[in-house]
Amino acid sequence: MAQLWGGRFTKETDKLVYNFNASIGFDRKFYKQDIEGSIAHVIMLGKVGILTKQESDAIVECLKQIEEEVTAGKLVITDEYEDIHSFVEANLIDRLGDTGKKLHTGRSRNDQVALDMRLYTRLQVLEVDALLKELLQTILKIMEEHLDTIMPGFTHLQKAQPITLAHHMGAYFEMFKRDRDRMHDIYKRMNYCPLGSGALAGTTYPLDRDLTADLMGFYGPTLNSMDGVSDRDYLIEFLSACATIMMHLSRFSEEVIIWNSNEYQFVEIDDAYSTGSSIMPQKKNPDIAELVRGKTGRVYGALLSLLTTMKGIPLAYNKDMQEDKELSFDAMDTVKGCIALFNGMLATMKFNKERMYASANGGFTNATDAADYLVNKGVPFRDAHGIIGRLVLYCIDQEKAIDELTLEELKAISPVFEQDIYDAVSMETCVNKRLTIGAPGPDAMKQVIEIEKQYLLQEWEIDENYLIK
Ligand code: ARG
Repeated sequence: MAQLWGGRFTKETDKLVYNFNASIGFDRKFYKQDIEGSIAHVIMLGKVGILTKQESDAIVECLKQIEEEVTAGKLVITDEYEDIHSFVEANLIDRLGDTGKKLHTGRSRNDQVALDMRLYTRLQVLEVDALLKELLQTILKIMEEHLDTIMPGFTHLQKAQPITLAHHMGAYFEMFKRDRDRMHDIYKRMNYCPLGSGALAGTTYPLDRDLTADLMGFYGPTLNSMDGVSDRDYLIEFLSACATIMMHLSRFSEEVIIWNSNEYQFVEIDDAYSTGSSIMPQKKNPDIAELVRGKTGRVYGALLSLLTTMKGIPLAYNKDMQEDKELSFDAMDTVKGCIALFNGMLATMKFNKERMYASANGGFTNATDAADYLVNKGVPFRDAHGIIGRLVLYCIDQEKAIDELTLEELKAISPVFEQDIYDAVSMETCVNKRLTIGAPGPDAMKQVIEIEKQYLLQEWEIDENYLIK
């Protein structure tokens, strides 16, 4: 049991208490961030003269060495330490003796862990953003290839009006674009450095908090030390944005599952992204989409868990906050894995244009356009609606589509119908005439695709200090 404290204790910690309290099992995940924070802290201590230049240099060198060894697998982070902070400090002291003991000058584990979690989350924000960008690129490619691929659009999961695959995909483009925006927003709000907050009340050492903040690419130091150690808003915001990403992926997954079903056959998921059944040889299941849908619950769980953990915590640090890690780490890995896998599945998925077209054509998705045709010939809309309703009933009875009726049959329902009705209700006309911006008409979609292309060309700029311009 290696602990950083114990001076005022007369008894050993009970073993069960030690295990219950320890966080090394999960906070080892941010050893790099812990070391990065310590390096910045020690450089600053050296600059302001709290440590000598030699001491500061020696500690920085040794911390880098420890990081390299851990990364190379030469130094193993074992459970004998209470947390990652103790592990790093103990190893430093082993190697540097008294100089190593100066690392923690003017610092508490409270501001240390607040920093580590923030650095780790900031990295996740960047990674999620990059993965979303890749997904958007895949979606845009499908949009460009399927401007004229007609399919039914649904409301209530009932065929409604014809749209194009480009248009349907465009809806998801908007969703994931907003998800990226949320990442950028979170980054801006979270990018302040809590180190220097001490346990809760700052410190009496003349720390240069601007320098530490600057060394780690933060915009500046946090402005209240109690908030600095106890703020987890950025993590809640990040988990909330992740929950929204998962909600979007889950809806998309649900559609892929429906489209891939034997009844629809709108798409075929690539063999590499499908799985079989142990008993039914004919099966090819959309397990990836189902798992993404399923894992959404885990990410929601992490958000709800942290909100609940935080709601009763008085200022400032309380040990409850150690619970911010495990479920958040799980959610971060889950979201990144799901975006990447979904992207792979989408990029390799085949779209069955014929099935989509036939489905749109066979479901009276042109009924609204048929009514509009009558309106254009002078019939009031409400009457036109009634006439087309009767027409649909007749079609169902005859098992025919509107454009499969003869002109005589049409005229028997309304004398207003002329030969030009066939062109007016063709799938192509129904789609092509929808030209207001945001609608599925290919000419409108081309304008949107141009806007999205420009959007994807813009870099979310980060300089070597991670600062977003
Ligand atoms: N493992 C702790 C956490 O994750 C580190 C901070 C410990 N601070 C303390 N006062 N016990 O929050």
